[in-house]
Amino acid sequence: MAFPSMIRRFGVGFALAGICALAFAADMDMDMHSSMMHGSASAPQVPAGGARVAVAFPPQLKREVLATMRMHLQGIANVQQAMAEGKYDEAAQIATMALGMSSMHGEQAQQEARYMPPGMRALGAQLHMQAGEFVLAAQNATATGDVRKPQQLLGRMLQTCVACHATYRLQ
Ligand code: HEC
Repeated sequence: MAFPSMIRRFGVGFALAGICALAFAADMDMDMHSSMMHGSASAPQVPAGGARVAVAFPPQLKREVLATMRMHLQGIANVQQAMAEGKYDEAAQIATMALGMSSMHGEQAQQEARYMPPGMRALGAQLHMQAGEFVLAAQNATATGDVRKPQQLLGRMLQTCVACHATYRLQ
């Protein structure tokens, strides 16, 4: 897949890598689903309000996904709180549980992957990858005192939440 290798090439500290990956994911999806709606522009663009791509999930899966989303938001709030208190170890633990790959059980992840368009799947994978990077940086911060790195990575992770919400809605 292109974007993880892009991140590898540029290194995780490269501030624009995430944004490039978003542009890539959004583009990919527009090509596949809504190129007519968005015209011919290939620039990374967030669809105007109401023009989000509607994704059909079965009702039960939708409920589970929205519950996971609320857990993500709670997780972000708790991570921020822990960081504000200088507890970077705790921030890492919370992020692992609420935002990492293991934050949802395998079956839900499989189901989601089945119904998501490719660009949405890429943003989901990106979120969990960024959570992993955040966890490492937060753990390192307790040893090195470099608190800017995890703060930066948290911000980047939030941009992924924003990008997905701006592009997709559930039916
Ligand atoms: C891969 C796409 C994607 C990513 C990444 C993503 N979300 Fe969502 N989220 C959605 C979709 C789709 C909805 C439903 C929105 C709609 O139908 O209008 C949603 C809904 C939500 C909701 C509303 C839940 C409810 O009960 O209605 C919250 C809160 C939320 N997301 C938080 C987050 C946070 C915080 C992050 C990042 C840590 C995040 N999401 C990342 C796709 C995503």
